[in-house]
Amino acid sequence: MLDLPEGVRHLPGFLSAEAQAALVEDVRKVVKAAPLYVPAMPRTGKEMSVRMTNCGSLGWVTDKERGYRYQPTHPISGEAWPSIPATLTTIWHEVADYPHPPEACLVNFYTSEARMGLHQDRDEADFNAPVVSVSLGDDCLFRVGPPKRSAKTVSFRLQSGDIVVLGGEGRLAFHGVDRVYPQTSTLLKNGGRVNLTLRRVTAP
Ligand code: SIN
Ligand code: MN
Repeated sequence: MLDLPEGVRHLPGFLSAEAQAALVEDVRKVVKAAPLYVPAMPRTGKEMSVRMTNCGSLGWVTDKERGYRYQPTHPISGEAWPSIPATLTTIWHEVADYPHPPEACLVNFYTSEARMGLHQDRDEADFNAPVVSVSLGDDCLFRVGPPKRSAKTVSFRLQSGDIVVLGGEGRLAFHGVDRVYPQTSTLLKNGGRVNLTLRRVTAP
């Protein structure tokens, strides 16, 4: 067993094959209403390799001019984000150990070339709420370390149906995705990996 940083929980195989398939249908509907777009880093405008969209009353976005933030509308269409599917809210209530509902669900789509650098999720107002992350599709190599950038990290494989909870001491854990392993899942017709992160954004 890997020694995960305090407050970081890995729940392998949390979702059954049926639950994963149902979630893919939900994600398809979200992406139809709120298409994936290419996010850009603050200041440099460098494009990220991950494609993003959101559901919920708020969505996490980033662009060159205005940087990291939550907003109620899609940055390209200007439309309100679709609501968080009940399947995801249920998962939140099962694992979050937090009494209030999530407000945002960031949808990340990774092709086999996409990665996500080591970072903290810190654009939310209430760090008492965890971040709950659901993986679907191809496996990835996930890296996580304590809330100190110079601290040692551990890496492990995340598979379709796994959940990771960053809560308590681990709420500000550094985390990222070093690589995606192509053709390791048949869940998504065209391959790739989807990650859904549920967040509480405002203090209740
Ligand atoms: C994220 O930190 O937003 C995504 C993490 C992941 O893809 O597992
Ligand atoms: Mn994150």
